Amino acid sequence: VRVVSLPGDPGIGPRLADLLGLEYIQFLHKKFPDGEIYLRLPKVIENEGVLLVQSMYPNQNDHTVELLLALELLSRYRNNITLLITYLAYARQDKEFLAGEPVSLRSLVKALSSLGLGTLVTIDAHSPLALREFLGTSRYINIVPDEVFAEAISRRYRREELTVIAPDQGAEKRAASLAELLGCRYVVVKKARDRITGNVTHVLDPLDSVSGIAVVVDDIVSTGGTIAGIASYLSSRGVRVVVAASHALFVGDAYDKLARSGVVEIYALPTTGVTVSGVTYLDMVPYIARKLREEKVVE
Ligand code: R5P
Repeated sequence: VRVVSLPGDPGIGPRLADLLGLEYIQFLHKKFPDGEIYLRLPKVIENEGVLLVQSMYPNQNDHTVELLLALELLSRYRNNITLLITYLAYARQDKEFLAGEPVSLRSLVKALSSLGLGTLVTIDAHSPLALREFLGTSRYINIVPDEVFAEAISRRYRREELTVIAPDQGAEKRAASLAELLGCRYVVVKKARDRITGNVTHVLDPLDSVSGIAVVVDDIVSTGGTIAGIASYLSSRGVRVVVAASHALFVGDAYDKLARSGVVEIYALPTTGVTVSGVTYLDMVPYIARKLREEKVVE
Protein backbone atom coordinates (compact mmCIF):
# COMPACT_ATOMS: atom_id res chain seq x y z
CA VAL A 1 0.00 0.00 0.00
CA ARG A 2 1.18 3.53 -0.82
CA VAL A 3 -0.19 6.67 0.79
CA VAL A 4 -1.13 9.34 -1.76
CA SER A 5 -2.27 12.86 -0.78
CA LEU A 6 -4.64 15.03 -2.76
CA PRO A 7 -4.37 18.84 -2.44
CA GLY A 8 -6.99 19.01 0.35
CA ASP A 9 -5.06 16.70 2.69
CA PRO A 10 -4.42 18.76 5.85
CA GLY A 11 -1.10 16.98 6.50
CA ILE A 12 -2.50 13.65 7.63
CA GLY A 13 -1.17 11.56 4.70
CA PRO A 14 2.56 12.07 5.34
CA ARG A 15 2.20 11.39 9.06
CA LEU A 16 0.15 8.26 8.44
CA ALA A 17 2.73 7.01 5.93
CA ASP A 18 5.44 7.61 8.50
CA LEU A 19 3.59 5.83 11.30
CA LEU A 20 2.61 2.91 9.08
CA GLY A 21 6.01 2.64 7.40
CA LEU A 22 4.55 3.17 3.90
CA GLU A 23 5.80 5.02 0.84
CA TYR A 24 4.31 8.52 0.50
CA ILE A 25 3.46 10.34 -2.75
CA GLN A 26 1.70 13.64 -3.35
CA PHE A 27 -0.37 14.61 -6.38
CA LEU A 28 1.06 17.59 -8.25
CA HIS A 29 -1.67 20.11 -8.97
CA LYS A 30 -2.38 23.41 -10.66
CA LYS A 31 -5.30 25.38 -12.00
CA PHE A 32 -5.67 26.28 -15.65
CA PRO A 33 -6.29 29.98 -16.38
CA ASP A 34 -10.04 29.33 -16.68
CA GLY A 35 -10.17 27.67 -13.25
CA GLU A 36 -10.16 24.01 -14.29
CA ILE A 37 -8.16 21.64 -12.13
CA TYR A 38 -5.12 19.65 -13.32
CA LEU A 39 -3.56 16.79 -11.40
CA ARG A 40 -0.58 14.56 -12.06
CA LEU A 41 0.84 11.73 -10.03
CA PRO A 42 4.63 12.02 -10.33
CA LYS A 43 5.01 8.23 -10.35
CA VAL A 44 2.85 5.60 -12.06
CA ILE A 45 1.25 3.21 -9.58
CA GLU A 46 -0.19 0.08 -11.13
CA ASN A 47 -1.88 -2.95 -9.58
CA GLU A 48 -1.07 -1.78 -6.05
CA GLY A 49 -2.93 -0.83 -2.90
CA VAL A 50 -3.42 2.93 -2.59
CA LEU A 51 -4.55 4.87 0.47
CA LEU A 52 -5.73 8.18 -1.02
CA VAL A 53 -6.08 11.03 1.52
CA GLN A 54 -8.25 14.09 1.03
CA SER A 55 -10.21 16.65 3.06
CA MET A 56 -13.05 18.45 1.31
CA TYR A 57 -12.89 21.80 3.12
CA PRO A 58 -12.13 24.43 2.05
CA ASN A 59 -13.08 24.52 -0.93
CA GLN A 60 -15.48 21.59 -1.17
CA ASN A 61 -16.22 21.99 -4.88
CA ASP A 62 -12.59 21.95 -6.05
CA HIS A 63 -11.83 19.05 -3.74
CA THR A 64 -14.76 17.08 -5.17
CA VAL A 65 -13.38 17.43 -8.69
CA GLU A 66 -9.91 16.40 -7.47
CA LEU A 67 -11.42 13.20 -6.05
CA LEU A 68 -13.11 12.37 -9.35
CA LEU A 69 -9.94 12.97 -11.35
CA ALA A 70 -7.71 10.98 -8.99
CA LEU A 71 -10.06 7.99 -8.87
CA GLU A 72 -10.28 7.89 -12.66
CA LEU A 73 -6.48 7.66 -12.86
CA LEU A 74 -5.94 5.18 -10.04
CA SER A 75 -8.72 2.81 -11.10
CA ARG A 76 -7.64 2.88 -14.78
CA TYR A 77 -4.28 1.57 -13.53
CA ARG A 78 -6.17 -1.23 -11.70
CA ASN A 79 -5.19 -0.16 -8.18
CA ASN A 80 -7.05 -1.27 -5.09
CA ILE A 81 -8.20 2.11 -3.76
CA THR A 82 -8.99 3.05 -0.16
CA LEU A 83 -10.08 6.65 0.17
CA LEU A 84 -9.66 8.40 3.52
CA ILE A 85 -11.78 11.56 3.49
CA THR A 86 -11.00 13.34 6.74
CA TYR A 87 -13.88 15.81 6.26
CA LEU A 88 -16.66 14.72 3.92
CA ALA A 89 -18.54 17.66 2.40
CA TYR A 90 -22.16 17.53 1.16
CA ALA A 91 -22.86 15.03 3.94
CA ARG A 92 -25.70 16.91 5.60
CA GLN A 93 -28.01 16.83 2.56
CA ASP A 94 -28.56 13.11 3.10
CA LYS A 95 -32.23 13.14 2.15
CA GLU A 96 -34.79 15.14 0.22
CA PHE A 97 -35.93 17.45 3.03
CA LEU A 98 -38.03 19.60 0.67
CA ALA A 99 -39.54 18.22 -2.53
CA GLY A 100 -37.33 19.00 -5.50
CA GLU A 101 -33.97 18.81 -3.67
CA PRO A 102 -31.18 16.52 -4.91
CA VAL A 103 -29.76 14.15 -2.27
CA SER A 104 -26.23 15.60 -2.48
CA LEU A 105 -24.54 12.90 -0.41
CA ARG A 106 -26.00 10.19 -2.65
CA SER A 107 -24.78 11.81 -5.86
CA LEU A 108 -21.27 12.34 -4.45
CA VAL A 109 -20.91 8.82 -3.08
CA LYS A 110 -22.34 7.16 -6.20
CA ALA A 111 -19.87 9.09 -8.36
CA LEU A 112 -16.95 7.94 -6.18
CA SER A 113 -17.99 4.30 -6.20
CA SER A 114 -18.67 4.29 -9.95
CA LEU A 115 -15.04 5.43 -10.43
CA GLY A 116 -13.66 2.28 -8.83
CA LEU A 117 -13.51 3.16 -5.14
CA GLY A 118 -12.85 0.00 -3.10
CA THR A 119 -13.16 1.27 0.48
CA LEU A 120 -14.30 4.61 1.85
CA VAL A 121 -12.96 5.66 5.26
CA THR A 122 -14.46 8.75 6.93
CA ILE A 123 -13.94 10.44 10.27
CA ASP A 124 -17.14 11.02 12.23
CA ALA A 125 -19.44 11.14 9.19
CA HIS A 126 -22.70 13.02 9.61
CA SER A 127 -24.84 10.07 8.43
CA PRO A 128 -22.93 6.78 8.46
CA LEU A 129 -26.13 4.83 7.75
CA ALA A 130 -26.96 6.81 4.61
CA LEU A 131 -23.36 6.52 3.45
CA ARG A 132 -23.34 2.77 3.81
CA GLU A 133 -26.58 2.52 1.85
CA PHE A 134 -25.41 4.84 -0.97
CA LEU A 135 -22.04 3.09 -1.30
CA GLY A 136 -23.60 -0.19 -2.43
CA THR A 137 -20.88 -2.81 -2.69
CA SER A 138 -17.90 -0.58 -1.79
CA ARG A 139 -16.64 -1.18 1.76
CA TYR A 140 -17.23 1.55 4.35
CA ILE A 141 -15.44 2.39 7.62
CA ASN A 142 -16.41 5.34 9.83
CA ILE A 143 -13.76 6.26 12.41
CA VAL A 144 -15.52 7.61 15.50
CA PRO A 145 -13.17 9.87 17.50
CA ASP A 146 -14.87 9.54 20.94
CA GLU A 147 -11.77 8.02 22.53
CA VAL A 148 -9.63 10.95 21.35
CA PHE A 149 -12.03 13.52 22.85
CA ALA A 150 -12.58 11.49 26.04
CA GLU A 151 -8.86 11.22 26.69
CA ALA A 152 -8.29 14.99 26.34
CA ILE A 153 -11.35 15.98 28.38
CA SER A 154 -10.75 13.52 31.22
CA ARG A 155 -7.15 14.70 31.49
CA ARG A 156 -8.43 18.21 32.23
CA TYR A 157 -11.80 17.86 34.02
CA ARG A 158 -13.18 15.69 36.80
CA ARG A 159 -15.87 13.19 35.85
CA GLU A 160 -18.24 14.34 38.65
CA GLU A 161 -18.52 17.85 37.21
CA LEU A 162 -19.25 16.80 33.60
CA THR A 163 -22.47 16.48 31.57
CA VAL A 164 -22.34 15.78 27.84
CA ILE A 165 -24.88 17.68 25.72
CA ALA A 166 -26.21 16.55 22.32
CA PRO A 167 -27.26 19.78 20.55
CA ASP A 168 -29.83 17.91 18.45
CA GLN A 169 -31.39 14.47 18.17
CA GLY A 170 -28.89 13.48 15.47
CA ALA A 171 -26.02 13.87 17.97
CA GLU A 172 -27.54 11.57 20.61
CA LYS A 173 -25.49 8.48 19.71
CA ARG A 174 -22.31 10.57 19.70
CA ALA A 175 -23.17 12.07 23.11
CA ALA A 176 -24.15 8.74 24.66
CA SER A 177 -20.90 7.14 23.63
CA LEU A 178 -18.70 10.06 24.81
CA ALA A 179 -20.61 10.19 28.12
CA GLU A 180 -20.02 6.47 28.63
CA LEU A 181 -16.29 6.88 28.08
CA LEU A 182 -16.18 9.88 30.43
CA GLY A 183 -18.35 8.13 33.02
CA CYS A 184 -20.94 10.92 33.19
CA ARG A 185 -24.55 11.52 32.08
CA TYR A 186 -25.78 13.12 28.87
CA VAL A 187 -28.69 15.35 27.90
CA VAL A 188 -30.29 15.70 24.45
CA VAL A 189 -31.59 19.07 23.27
CA LYS A 190 -34.29 19.16 20.59
CA LYS A 191 -33.44 21.30 17.58
CA ALA A 192 -35.61 22.45 14.68
CA ARG A 193 -34.13 24.03 11.56
CA ASP A 194 -36.13 26.24 9.20
CA ARG A 195 -35.41 24.53 5.88
CA ILE A 196 -35.69 27.80 3.95
CA THR A 197 -33.75 30.29 6.13
CA GLY A 198 -31.49 27.74 7.85
CA ASN A 199 -32.26 29.33 11.26
CA VAL A 200 -32.31 26.96 14.24
CA THR A 201 -34.49 26.92 17.36
CA HIS A 202 -33.98 24.76 20.43
CA VAL A 203 -36.15 23.41 23.23
CA LEU A 204 -33.78 24.26 26.08
CA ASP A 205 -35.68 23.10 29.21
CA PRO A 206 -33.74 19.80 29.53
CA LEU A 207 -30.64 21.94 30.20
CA ASP A 208 -32.07 23.27 33.47
CA SER A 209 -30.79 20.16 35.27
CA VAL A 210 -27.18 20.79 34.12
CA SER A 211 -24.52 22.28 36.41
CA GLY A 212 -20.71 22.27 36.55
CA ILE A 213 -19.20 21.71 33.11
CA ALA A 214 -21.21 20.97 29.96
CA VAL A 215 -19.43 19.30 27.04
CA VAL A 216 -21.41 20.04 23.88
CA VAL A 217 -20.51 17.43 21.29
CA ASP A 218 -21.24 17.73 17.57
CA ASP A 219 -19.84 16.49 14.28
CA ILE A 220 -19.62 19.89 12.58
CA VAL A 221 -19.37 23.49 13.72
CA SER A 222 -20.16 25.60 10.68
CA THR A 223 -21.65 29.03 11.54
CA GLY A 224 -21.63 28.19 15.26
CA GLY A 225 -25.38 28.93 15.47
CA THR A 226 -26.37 25.47 16.77
CA ILE A 227 -23.97 25.55 19.71
CA ALA A 228 -24.05 29.30 20.48
CA GLY A 229 -27.75 29.26 21.51
CA ILE A 230 -27.15 26.37 23.89
CA ALA A 231 -23.93 27.84 25.27
CA SER A 232 -25.56 31.23 26.02
CA TYR A 233 -28.38 29.53 27.91
CA LEU A 234 -26.00 27.38 29.95
CA SER A 235 -23.43 30.08 30.67
CA SER A 236 -26.15 32.48 31.85
CA ARG A 237 -26.91 29.82 34.49
CA GLY A 238 -23.29 29.59 35.65
CA VAL A 239 -22.42 26.42 33.70
CA ARG A 240 -18.97 26.33 32.03
CA VAL A 241 -19.32 25.24 28.42
CA VAL A 242 -16.72 23.15 26.58
CA VAL A 243 -17.18 22.19 22.90
CA ALA A 244 -15.98 18.94 21.33
CA ALA A 245 -16.50 19.14 17.56
CA SER A 246 -14.92 16.82 15.02
CA HIS A 247 -14.98 19.19 12.05
CA ALA A 248 -14.53 22.86 12.96
CA LEU A 249 -15.28 24.75 9.75
CA PHE A 250 -15.71 28.07 11.58
CA VAL A 251 -17.46 29.93 8.80
CA GLY A 252 -17.36 33.73 9.12
CA ASP A 253 -17.45 34.89 12.76
CA ALA A 254 -18.30 31.43 14.16
CA TYR A 255 -15.36 31.39 16.59
CA ASP A 256 -16.21 34.83 18.03
CA LYS A 257 -19.87 33.84 18.23
CA LEU A 258 -18.95 30.84 20.39
CA ALA A 259 -16.59 32.90 22.54
CA ARG A 260 -19.30 35.58 23.07
CA SER A 261 -21.82 32.90 24.03
CA GLY A 262 -19.58 31.85 26.93
CA VAL A 263 -17.76 28.80 25.52
CA VAL A 264 -14.56 28.45 27.57
CA GLU A 265 -12.76 25.79 25.56
CA ILE A 266 -13.07 24.21 22.11
CA TYR A 267 -11.62 20.83 21.17
CA ALA A 268 -11.57 19.92 17.49
CA LEU A 269 -9.82 17.53 15.13
CA PRO A 270 -7.47 18.71 12.37
CA THR A 271 -9.68 17.25 9.63
CA THR A 272 -9.89 20.37 7.43
CA GLY A 273 -7.56 23.05 6.12
CA VAL A 274 -8.98 25.56 8.63
CA THR A 275 -6.91 26.37 11.72
CA VAL A 276 -8.19 28.89 14.26
CA SER A 277 -6.04 30.11 17.13
CA GLY A 278 -7.71 29.48 20.47
CA VAL A 279 -8.98 26.04 19.42
CA THR A 280 -7.27 22.93 20.83
CA TYR A 281 -6.71 20.54 17.91
CA LEU A 282 -6.27 16.97 19.05
CA ASP A 283 -3.79 14.76 17.24
CA MET A 284 -5.74 11.79 15.94
CA VAL A 285 -3.29 10.40 13.39
CA PRO A 286 -2.06 7.55 15.67
CA TYR A 287 -5.72 6.67 16.30
CA ILE A 288 -6.47 6.58 12.55
CA ALA A 289 -3.38 4.42 11.99
CA ARG A 290 -4.56 2.02 14.69
CA LYS A 291 -8.06 1.79 13.17
CA LEU A 292 -6.67 1.18 9.66
CA ARG A 293 -4.60 -1.69 11.03
CA GLU A 294 -7.53 -3.14 13.01
CA GLU A 295 -9.73 -3.00 9.88
CA LYS A 296 -6.90 -4.63 7.87
CA VAL A 297 -6.79 -1.72 5.41
CA VAL A 298 -3.04 -1.92 5.99
CA GLU A 299 -0.97 -4.70 7.55
C1 R5P B 1 -26.27 19.36 11.69
O1 R5P B 1 -27.16 18.55 11.93
C2 R5P B 1 -24.87 19.21 12.17
O2 R5P B 1 -24.73 18.06 12.95
C3 R5P B 1 -24.39 20.44 12.93
O3 R5P B 1 -25.15 20.55 14.12
C4 R5P B 1 -24.54 21.68 12.11
O4 R5P B 1 -23.96 21.50 10.84
C5 R5P B 1 -23.90 22.86 12.80
O5 R5P B 1 -24.06 23.98 11.97
P1 R5P B 1 -23.95 25.44 12.56
O6 R5P B 1 -22.66 25.56 13.30
O7 R5P B 1 -24.01 26.33 11.33
O8 R5P B 1 -25.15 25.65 13.42
